[in-house]
Amino acid sequence: MSVLQFLTTVHFDRGARRVLPQLLQAAGVRRPLYVSDPGVIRAGVFAQALEAMPADDARQVFSDTPVNPTEAAALAGASQYRAAGCDGVVGIGGGAALDLAKAIAVLATHAPPLWDYCNRHANPRPIDRAPPLFLLPTTAGTGSEVGRSAVIVFDNGIKAGVRCPDLVTAAVCDPELTAGLPPAITASTGMDALAHCIETFCSPVVNPPADAIALDGMQRILASLERAVADGRDAQARWDMMMGSLEGAIAFQKGMGAVHALAHPLGAHGFHHGTLNAILLPHVLALNRSALGPKYDAIRRQGGWAEAADPAREIAALNARIGLPVRLRDIGVDAAVLPAVARAALEDNAHRTNPRPMAEADYAALLDAAY
Ligand SMILES: [Fe+2]
Repeated sequence: MSVLQFLTTVHFDRGARRVLPQLLQAAGVRRPLYVSDPGVIRAGVFAQALEAMPADDARQVFSDTPVNPTEAAALAGASQYRAAGCDGVVGIGGGAALDLAKAIAVLATHAPPLWDYCNRHANPRPIDRAPPLFLLPTTAGTGSEVGRSAVIVFDNGIKAGVRCPDLVTAAVCDPELTAGLPPAITASTGMDALAHCIETFCSPVVNPPADAIALDGMQRILASLERAVADGRDAQARWDMMMGSLEGAIAFQKGMGAVHALAHPLGAHGFHHGTLNAILLPHVLALNRSALGPKYDAIRRQGGWAEAADPAREIAALNARIGLPVRLRDIGVDAAVLPAVARAALEDNAHRTNPRPMAEADYAALLDAAY
């Protein structure tokens, strides 16, 4: 059995955002650097997240978060942190802002380059003196608030993780922060959360507690994603989506599979992670079916689908109903990058825990089918 490590303190409730002032005070943080993105600020969600905080004209905000966070953005944020004399980091946003907040917290007090802390570095340096870090997700997708790493596009062009399981002081999960999320983002981020639950459940690593958590998350997401897309104000659907997203990220320490092994190198070209996962998931499930045995039936049960239903087809149909693109070409992926993506997938950590062994030709065939 693999190690099941779940250390992050989570405040989960409608209105949980109001505990932030107490959490910062308890951690001795007086001058946090807030990490967010322009869309979250424009939508008023950043202000909503901070409504319990005292007014502060000198608030330090880093909002230059790329769609896929980069080492350069992390360095820029860390410079702002030091220049402004900050003493803590608060990430408010989707997975990109939260992962960037983690990387900024690391580089605020640890020497660059960030690659020295990457989980693909042969001998990563320890992260042992980062400032207090609080994360408030505003999407139900990555579960970065409880995930063990920060996924970054490094200066060398590789998209991979900084392993930092002890970095987050506390996560504040408030489903009300997702109520205004547009349908398209609800759909694509939700499919990332679903991919986490399904891929981690399918991973051959033995870890029954993580499987149970993944199954619960899968059931919640499959029951509520379409409702959350149709009516963002459906409070129960938003609660279940945020819980399912958190559960997916707790469970994925079991490792994922070919969806993420391909989505990481494709994402390094600038495409949205959740959208990539949505496109790839039906193809990967169909390919893995023969290796999954009773697990395939368990996925069918979590979806509440008929005995004769095929989960791969059901998920493709769900994608269509919630308005997600069907093919990689639909989002502008250039066919010329596919051979390099198939090669890069072999180096990704998620490659090792796909339920059936994958060769470069298997990845190339998957990409071809999804193109
Ligand atoms: Fe993901």
